[in-house]
Amino acid sequence: MPGTCVVGLQWGDEAKGKLVDILTESHEIVVRYQGGANAGHTVVSGGETWKLSLIPSGILRDDVTCVVTGGVVLDPANVIREIDGLEARGVRVAGKLLFSDRAHVVFPWHMAEDKTLDGSVSDGEAIGTTGRGIGPCYRDKVGRSLAIRLGDLYRSEFKQKFDHVVAIKQQLVGDLDAASIFEQYLAYAERLRPLVADTTAYLLDAVEEGKPVLFEGAQGALLDIDHGTFPYVTSSNSSGVGVSSGSGVPGRWIDRVIGVVKAYSTRVGGGPMPTEQDNEVGAHLRERGREYGTVTQRPRRCGWFDAVAARYTARLSGADELAVMLLDVLGGLDELKICSAYRINGKRVTQFPAHVDDLRIAEPEFEALPGWKEEISGVRTEADLPEAAKRYIARIGELLGRPVSIVSVGPDREETIRCSGR
Ligand code: GDP
Ligand code: IMO
Ligand code: MG
Repeated sequence: MPGTCVVGLQWGDEAKGKLVDILTESHEIVVRYQGGANAGHTVVSGGETWKLSLIPSGILRDDVTCVVTGGVVLDPANVIREIDGLEARGVRVAGKLLFSDRAHVVFPWHMAEDKTLDGSVSDGEAIGTTGRGIGPCYRDKVGRSLAIRLGDLYRSEFKQKFDHVVAIKQQLVGDLDAASIFEQYLAYAERLRPLVADTTAYLLDAVEEGKPVLFEGAQGALLDIDHGTFPYVTSSNSSGVGVSSGSGVPGRWIDRVIGVVKAYSTRVGGGPMPTEQDNEVGAHLRERGREYGTVTQRPRRCGWFDAVAARYTARLSGADELAVMLLDVLGGLDELKICSAYRINGKRVTQFPAHVDDLRIAEPEFEALPGWKEEISGVRTEADLPEAAKRYIARIGELLGRPVSIVSVGPDREETIRCSGR
């Protein structure tokens, strides 16, 4: 059975990029199936840091094909910059990267709409989007009449479609230089032409031939449009449920789902976060974990590990096992806390609430665990971890009901421990 999937179980930035890079060793194809340039995935290897946005983290290995499917919204200017940046640093991209002709294209009006409309959620707190036009592009996809897919750019009707869309968008976002946008997108299309393919057919062939395929989730399950902390979410299915709809590969081909969590919680943008620590603990996590957004450089909100939320998303995503990342960041704290239940209106709750207003008033019930002082980035086996660190990861596994198979103790590929949990 060929499919492995990496899914973030929190609000994104769980270090999926690092994990995908490691797992790529044993896969032939790496697939991005949802989201867009809102994602920022970091890979550190041999002292070099790579920040990937739309292109799967597998691109750094030579014998891997990277596929961006139709579930993704694609900003051609951004992706061309990304390709150029990789090639300038000696990474071969040609022949290793495919874009779906079904992917929806992000246009300048989507970015403009993102800027004007974010912040107008009815209860007053802005979603705090990345401003990459993600929501507006997905809105046009669902609305259909104003959508343009990558494959459309190569067809003779493109001009007619573009003129139709631009005339309506002018009314929404004001003056647009339609002629120059059109010319620009024709040029982008030419540049991307050799990479555009029917990736659904490609991936179905691959899984039917038994090729090992790795699916790289973007964002995290708590940002899932249907199952996350709506409306403070992204616009795609960023939990495990998005793999099939985004890629066209039926779930039956995926036999291993790895749920990725940070050893604590972070969130960028608006919306409730019950375990947030707006105090010296949060500051410790932010500074030690360098918790500043990869895409927007915003400081990430930091807090204790929320096992109520992560247990929900582990189940939702069908996680078979867990990767616990950034464990080293917790070093130096006397006491660690894990939220194992909420109190909502005086009632103890272990089920993650469906309505954001219930989550907003949820008071976390914490378990306290001992911390450790040792520097653990040099540790390579589970046995060599401090007892307190072993207890901490074991408790996460227990609360989420899954074995911890990987622990990360630093950003580098090498700073990784494979556990006996699986
Ligand atoms: P992604 O969006 O899930 O791929 O995660 P990001 O790349 O946005 O954020 C994760 C950050 O943590 C990056 O800066 C990584 O280099 C870094 N990182 C990954 N694993 C570890 C780890 O185990 N320890 C520390 N200290 N940093 C890590
Ligand atoms: P990776 O893949 C963390 C957040 C934004 C905002 C909300 C909606 O690196 O984990 P959007 O621009 O998608 O409409 O913004 O979602 N967000 C992320 N937060 N990591 C990400 O991606 C994110 N992508 C979107 O901050 O709160
Ligand atoms: Mg990120």
